[in-house]
Amino acid sequence: MTQINQPNKFYVTTPIYYINDRPHVGHAYSTIAADTLARYWRKKLGEENVMFSTGIDENSKKTIEAAELADKSIVDYTDEMAGVWKKTWDALGLSYDDFIRTSEPRHKAAVEDMLTKIEQANDISKGYYEGPYCYRCEQFYRDDELVDGNCPVHKKPIEIVKEENYFFDLPKYAEQVKTAILREELEILPLSRRNEVLAFIDRGLEKISISRANQDIGLELPFDRTQKIYVWVEALINYLTVTGYPDNSYENWWENVTHIVGKDIIKFHCIIWPAMLLSAGLQLPKRIFAHGFFTLDGEKISKSTGNTIDPVELSNQYGNDALRYYLLREIPFGSDGDFSQARFKVIYDSELSNGLGNLVQRVAVMTSKYCDGNYTLGDYPERREVDMALTSCAFDRALEAIFDAVRSSNQKIEEAKPWELAKTDPDAVAELLNGLITGIHWISSNLEPFLPDTANKVQAIFKDGRVDASVGILFPRID
Ligand code: ME8
Ligand code: MG
Repeated sequence: MTQINQPNKFYVTTPIYYINDRPHVGHAYSTIAADTLARYWRKKLGEENVMFSTGIDENSKKTIEAAELADKSIVDYTDEMAGVWKKTWDALGLSYDDFIRTSEPRHKAAVEDMLTKIEQANDISKGYYEGPYCYRCEQFYRDDELVDGNCPVHKKPIEIVKEENYFFDLPKYAEQVKTAILREELEILPLSRRNEVLAFIDRGLEKISISRANQDIGLELPFDRTQKIYVWVEALINYLTVTGYPDNSYENWWENVTHIVGKDIIKFHCIIWPAMLLSAGLQLPKRIFAHGFFTLDGEKISKSTGNTIDPVELSNQYGNDALRYYLLREIPFGSDGDFSQARFKVIYDSELSNGLGNLVQRVAVMTSKYCDGNYTLGDYPERREVDMALTSCAFDRALEAIFDAVRSSNQKIEEAKPWELAKTDPDAVAELLNGLITGIHWISSNLEPFLPDTANKVQAIFKDGRVDASVGILFPRID
């Protein structure tokens, strides 16, 4: 993100997830990142000027398959999964403002409006499609992309689609999308992903099939009701649906929208989506941030390989804030990384329990002991690292800056030895503790978007010049 100079509004989206399975830690990663940005901007702009949306992508053949497997009707299955996904985000304390389901009437209204506009722009034509399709990816492939004739991602047989359906004139918008990216009217972050998208456009785009002739699930094409809209084309429109499009003006939110996505879906978000918007005569989104992928103890995490890890289990074990800390601190946003339970434990012990937890605990206890629980806040030198880091979604750097302050505070205690000083110079101890609590205030205020529960607890411990030691320990030891 280049500059966000006092925007009026902030809108952040996550991908809408497929519901053939429960959320795993990869989905939690995107959603926690979006939650952190939303909390950060709510503090700056006020609740009403921030919108954070997530949701589910229901109209996929995978939904039919999963419902059959669960021996449920599509409606029962999708309702149940909507509950499962929401409950997961609620259990993780995620502050989404909207949870969109693509089976909702408001979504159909937005999709019909937008596709009608695209059709009226003469960007849709009928054609014959023949080629490989992986419904697990919900993606068309070229023959040369297959691996031993199988889907390159799932390594499973693909289906050959042979049918007459509708095509969108993607090449018509190649230059315009490219120019928007180069001029940073459409920001793609990080840079490596932006380059990947530009190179992909330079290799040449083809018209894309946007409907299916023989599919049971999906939204109908408004100008040919015998066909279903290709699930990706329709799913992307969710970001507009959430703004109230087409009834409400979407522009206010759009001028500062950030789509958080994984690197697996950048072509859809960075090429097809902008082209669809241009075709419909709508504005481009402001920015797209594509984060990296986790492996789990070295293996690719995915629903289809089955080595998923339940974020709620992790949170039950370590707490929501610890999970957020591990995910956002350990792997620079944008890079790939390994989710290691062993590393999580190490980081929990060293940085949260022995670092922040211990600092707060010691300072609270010493303030009670040496100053009757009273303190006076001083001035804290202005530090802008967190704001700077967040303008480029560098969560790890923001947390690093905050935890530098934790480390140096602990160090100050070690060096000053207040327990000895108390015997000879009580005023110096009070001054030291006041300084430490001032630092803790800066720490907790900056931690709010990252570790909201912890920040609240710290603020409850040090409140209005009095220490409240009854709040308890921040990060209890875990065996
Ligand atoms: O693609 N590491 O849904 P999906 C990090 N419905 N992030 C991961 C991850 C991992 N191992 N695994 C998944 C779809 N993710 C479409 C989206 S949007 C209009 C439609 C996250 O259920 C990451 O954000 O396959 C990735 O892009 C997303 O989940 C894919 O979720
Ligand atoms: Mg996927």
